[in-house]
Amino acid sequence: MKVLLAGGAGYIGSHTAVELLQAGHQVVVIDDYSNSCPESLKRVKKITGKDIKIYEADIKRKDAIRRVFGENQIDCIIHFAGLKAVGESIKEPIRYYRNNIDTTLTLLECMRGFGVKNIVFSSSATVYGEKCTMPCLETFGRGNCTNPYGWTKYMIEQILEDTAKAHPDISVVLLRYFNPVGAHASGLIGEDPQGIPNNLMPYVTQVAVGKREKLTVFGGDYATPDGTCRRDFIHVMDLANAHLKAIEYAANHKGVEIFNVGTGKPYSVLEIIKTFEAANGVKVNYEIGPRRDGDLPEVWADAGKAARLLGWQAHFNLADMCRDAWCWQSKNPQGYGKH
Ligand code: NAD
Ligand code: UD1
Repeated sequence: MKVLLAGGAGYIGSHTAVELLQAGHQVVVIDDYSNSCPESLKRVKKITGKDIKIYEADIKRKDAIRRVFGENQIDCIIHFAGLKAVGESIKEPIRYYRNNIDTTLTLLECMRGFGVKNIVFSSSATVYGEKCTMPCLETFGRGNCTNPYGWTKYMIEQILEDTAKAHPDISVVLLRYFNPVGAHASGLIGEDPQGIPNNLMPYVTQVAVGKREKLTVFGGDYATPDGTCRRDFIHVMDLANAHLKAIEYAANHKGVEIFNVGTGKPYSVLEIIKTFEAANGVKVNYEIGPRRDGDLPEVWADAGKAARLLGWQAHFNLADMCRDAWCWQSKNPQGYGKH
């Protein structure tokens, strides 16, 4: 298949590109590098020995995107393009709604205009909201999001569902990611956050490499086994493989299907630190600090539906995730360099 990766130069897109190329698919990427850089795709080519067609463009701009669809017979779109920093979305809601929703609408309009039938969307466990019981099941309603970023995912899911209802010839797969971490085992590509990382694993690796002094564990007094929050961490290569299964599924089905993409097993923040230290033989300096606003004590997936319908399951364990995150960070202390 020829697969369009919208936002494909980013963290999850670049790992998915490797997985798709190695499975024999062709890859076309559109990215404006607003949160990435061309180097990631150069390295994807190095890992796979295969070529990628790359367009530097803002996906909100319909003219530029029509050109991409006109020049390529796309079979399936994977829509990664979005702004994703929760705190920033609270400060700049308009930019978040504009970017995340407009990119989606442009892709959908081009999809209809050029007869593309299949789209896979990067959604998030955040759409389950704060009143969800654990483990999260795809049948639970969405809502009660705690920030504009989460609401953009909620709204985009709705837009895609309405589109599929109106056009029964298309197929939509919504992948609700839990907590993607780690990197490709080569250490050539990985997560490269700009500025101070918001997420746990890149913060841990930056402390371990000496770029930051210490990690603050947000809250040690939760009603969890060790008092720290628990999350469903998933290796980014397992997540990439879920996209491979999802495009195959979309090609053979119509309508909307939602899948959790997690391991189904929660680990606490302290367990991450301990596993990271043991797997890599390095120390992670940390202290327990106050809770972070909006954090839920525990979040994990029921991953049964993806196993049943996609034939997908996670293969990497927590030590693998910690080892590969460290391999990337220690080989690339400054990430890809200047963005
Ligand atoms: P990322 O920021 O590394 O990748 C997103 C890519 O989209 C970047 O390369 C960015 O430059 C590009 N982009 C953004 N707006 C664009 C626009 N208007 N035009 C063209 N390109 C644009 O993020 P990621 O971690 O790879 O996440 C990919 C998707 O998965 C995002 O939609 C994110 O919300 C979602 N998601 C991520 C996580 C996570 O923990 N990383 C969890 C759940 C969901
Ligand atoms: C966060 C977002 C979520 C988004 C996801 C992926 C919030 C409330 N949620 O999820 O919407 O989809 O990222 O981008 O921001 N932690 C620390 N110290 C740190 C960083 C994190 O203790 O410096 C803890 C957090 O309190 C949390 C866990 O580590 O318990 C995981 O945090 P993080 O990686 O930010 O992911 P989520 O909060 O699950």
